[in-house]
Amino acid sequence: MMRFGIIGTGRIGDMHARLIALQPDAVVTWCFDVFEDSARRTAEAVGARATTDVDALLAADDVDAVLIASPTDTHVEMILRSAEAGKSILCEKPIDVDIEMVEKCREKLLTFDVPLQLGFNRRFDPSHAGVRNAVANGEVGALELLVITSRDPGPPPPRAILEACGGLFRDTTIHDMDMARFVLGEDPVEVFTMAANRVDPVFAELGDVDTAMIVMRADSGALCHINNSRRTNYGYDQRVEAFGAEGMVRSNNHRPSEVSRYGAGGTAKRDELLHFFIERYRAAYEAEIRDFIDQVTAGKPPSVTFEDGRRALILSEAALKSYQTNQPVKVDYS
Ligand SMILES: NC(=O)c1ccc[n+]([C@@H]2O[C@H](COP(=O)([O-])OP(=O)(O)OC[C@H]3O[C@@H](n4cnc5c(N)ncnc54)[C@H](O)[C@@H]3O)[C@@H](O)[C@H]2O)c1
Repeated sequence: MMRFGIIGTGRIGDMHARLIALQPDAVVTWCFDVFEDSARRTAEAVGARATTDVDALLAADDVDAVLIASPTDTHVEMILRSAEAGKSILCEKPIDVDIEMVEKCREKLLTFDVPLQLGFNRRFDPSHAGVRNAVANGEVGALELLVITSRDPGPPPPRAILEACGGLFRDTTIHDMDMARFVLGEDPVEVFTMAANRVDPVFAELGDVDTAMIVMRADSGALCHINNSRRTNYGYDQRVEAFGAEGMVRSNNHRPSEVSRYGAGGTAKRDELLHFFIERYRAAYEAEIRDFIDQVTAGKPPSVTFEDGRRALILSEAALKSYQTNQPVKVDYS
């Protein structure tokens, strides 16, 4: 039985805690949040103890693993303190928005021997993983084009979240950078970005963009295109399409059901797309937790590593630099 402590019981921490509690071989024993009400709400839902003292959680004998879902700027501190306490770690993305912080964390982590998995949940989505597996099995031949569409439903998140998140490229596009590496099976080596403010003036006020198109080249010659928007009026738009000489494979958007309706109101009318990440990626989050428990229990390395998080951030930084300089950027992973 793997015993979890949850660090941060906000939107995603609360969801993770409830999914962990559904696993037959895992239990949530402690929930930490700086807001007592938040910690207590999640703790009561999963039968755990609530605390506003993270030291108590990290010192507890009945915590084998931590799920870090506190704000991004606390991840490095929580990773290092959890590693020092000997806990297995599943940490939400990104590691940090500052690559220097990530490099320092990487160096310090070398002195600890604990499993650490990064929360790139989309790798565990059955549809996206199906695209990746088809590409890896050679079903499209040599990969020529990879198109990743990732558009959030509107309206934009509250200003406070936007201010703290590190901007579109480091907070949101980082998922797509990881998806690109996952499906390509190699690291992009060159990045070019065009971006704009088309959605809401708040993004420009914060020095951020809300609309972006990124083109990347891999060593093999495969090209990857990512397009992002902070707003749709039709739900969460998440598609991945891989194309080569032997064909095309695509993961489509998800709906609550596959019913089509025909009548005076329209032809083949279908359900709206699932609204946002909690709904759309539920199966992925569950599979992510399952995989973490299985890998750690078997003494195997986590499937998504710190290095995956570092490389995705390096790509996000390159996309931002390309936008700022209006030049292609060669990517240096060293
Ligand atoms: N993988 C995904 O799909 C996904 C989706 C959403 C968020 N995230 C990531 O998860 C993390 C949390 O995001 P969220 O949307 O749940 O945010 P949130 O603001 O809803 O939750 C964060 C929680 O952490 C608590 N907290 C703990 N320690 C804190 C501290 N020292 N200072 C301030 N607050 C503290 C807050 O009170 C809050 O309850 C972020 O890093 C984000 O990038 C990942």
